Amino acid sequence: MPNARIAGIGMYVPEQVVTNFDLEKYMETSDAWIQERTGIKERRYAKRTGETTTTMGVEAAKLAIKNAGITADEIDFIIFATLSPDYYFPGCGVLVQRAMKMKEIGALDVRNQCSGFVYALSVGDQYIRSGMYKNILVIGSDKHSFGLDFSTRGRNVSVIFGDGAGAVVLQPTEKEGQGILSTHLHCDGNSAEILAMYNPGTHANYWVDEKLADFDDAEIGQMFMSHAMVDKAQNFPFMDGPSVFKKAIVKIPEAVMEALDANKLATTDIDMLIPHQANLRISQFVQQQLGLPDSHVYNNIQRYGNTTAASIPIALYEAWAEGKIKENDIVCLASFGSGFTWGSALIRW
Ligand code: COA
Repeated sequence: MPNARIAGIGMYVPEQVVTNFDLEKYMETSDAWIQERTGIKERRYAKRTGETTTTMGVEAAKLAIKNAGITADEIDFIIFATLSPDYYFPGCGVLVQRAMKMKEIGALDVRNQCSGFVYALSVGDQYIRSGMYKNILVIGSDKHSFGLDFSTRGRNVSVIFGDGAGAVVLQPTEKEGQGILSTHLHCDGNSAEILAMYNPGTHANYWVDEKLADFDDAEIGQMFMSHAMVDKAQNFPFMDGPSVFKKAIVKIPEAVMEALDANKLATTDIDMLIPHQANLRISQFVQQQLGLPDSHVYNNIQRYGNTTAASIPIALYEAWAEGKIKENDIVCLASFGSGFTWGSALIRW
């Protein structure tokens, strides 16, 4: 069984830079608060029209395909991870197939939020190992700026997120011990409502605490989206930040150790850790717990905020483009996010 290797990698971020000072104009917040709590200085926002989760993904994909030395015609499967799809359905994968004029190949969307890319990579890895596909395009892309509450009410969420996309091309490698060595995926659905966007959805108050979503029968009759939902800010993401923080700093190191143990490696073998860019403080906690030097952990949340499914492939691309990842290096990707979901991928580059 061949391992899957990352044969090409790409990223795309929109041109528009939005600083913390820009956000001060819309809500009661400050550059000092945001930097102190999250490390974020600025993020990118996509154009309101003409730039979507899919179009950003396509730009990242073009670069990944070019870097793999192949053409879009040679891709035989698409996996697209996002929480902010262009349409509620169909998914973004089919829009990529259309936009890139690809053959009538399969396309799969993955809905695992900040862990989306690691989950998508794991799925692609299995298809390559089984011999089913030879060139898989894995994309992580999110356009948050379209769905955030920019009033003071939504400040704990809106200051964190940014837009962007990352992509890789997976191919089989016959080199022993090279490529994706293992992936490890987890979830704890008990925490589903702690970081979530409840609507549009079919829950009709069933799962969600009434304080968070108290709709009367008449309103429930008009699901998915009603005026009442908008009035109650139910069209925006909800996050209990401190609960997310506490769990992330436990589960990310656990996922890294699980990957190392499975491959009989130690933390000292990690050449580069790419943690999901949720919060610089979370990354620093994880680094400290694993005892890794600064040069072995890559962070770019300062410039992009949390781009959810795109955060790991964007950071991976930049670390690679800056020459910080070399052949044979052990690279660990580790994620945590809504669900809760978390996971890791260990790669020998
Ligand atoms: N600007 C200014 N003040 C803000 C603010 C903002 N953007 N957001 C929240 N606050 C205020 C709160 O209203 C609260 O005020 P109060 O004490 O008067 O009630 C105070 O800051 C502290 O809020 P709290 O939520 O306890 O802050 P925190 O120290 O936990 O930091 C997060 C908030 C969101 C930065 C932090 O919890 C976090 O990063 N959690 C993880 C989030 C994450 O990673 N999400 C994505 C996961 S994939």
